[in-house]
Amino acid sequence: MTFNNLTIVDHPLARRDLTILRDKRTTSLEFRNSIRRISSVLVTAVSQSFKLKKVNIKTPLQKTVGYQLKHQIVLVPVLRAGLSLVESFLEMIPDAKVGHIGIYRNEQTLQPVDYYLKLPRNIKQAKVLIIDPMLATGGSASAAIQFLKNRGAKDITLVCLVAAPQGVSYMNKNHKDVPIYTIALDKGLNPKGYILPGLGDAGDRTYGTM
Ligand code: PRP
Ligand code: URA
Repeated sequence: MTFNNLTIVDHPLARRDLTILRDKRTTSLEFRNSIRRISSVLVTAVSQSFKLKKVNIKTPLQKTVGYQLKHQIVLVPVLRAGLSLVESFLEMIPDAKVGHIGIYRNEQTLQPVDYYLKLPRNIKQAKVLIIDPMLATGGSASAAIQFLKNRGAKDITLVCLVAAPQGVSYMNKNHKDVPIYTIALDKGLNPKGYILPGLGDAGDRTYGTM
């Protein structure tokens, strides 16, 4: 299956860390450490598309031309699980602003339930990265994107670790203007909406709430 708006980030270190994340024996501590490392690979790939502006600077020896990011970057983790990727993104983009969206899936209906929203001002001109490790049915990501569009965001990218084809299709239908970056495109969903083979419940495994 091929999707127009999907970039699969393939890197030996990402494959190594995704294996640790998938392994059910991995402790929460190791899980968080792997997410931190894999997020470094992800942020490097996603930021390839960032635009630059030229700036004039002086080295200790002479004038030269340098570069700055052209657009304000706004990171928007989807609580809870998205939080665990943010520090690695901030490490590489230290002047990014961070908004938060609280959304969880109702376990019976699989419909997204929102409970928190705090965004920086002026997201209209910003490049917004929505960060959530799991794209399963696509309901949560789609709802998060709609919140941002309703507040004027125009340049939105979804960043995840593991995506199901159903979630990518759902995004293509509802938000085909939003590029998706993922480390892996998995096979599908089980009847409870979990990604297969997946890595289980990302929030629970990150924070030890199984
Ligand atoms: C997980 C995950 C996504 C969502 C994906 O969150 O972090 O937000 O499920 O599923 P979907 O594509 O079918 O909507 P969860 O509902 O487990 O909330 P939590 O992070 O607070 O545990
Ligand atoms: N949310 C998760 O945390 N894992 C899945 O497999 C699906 C949704």
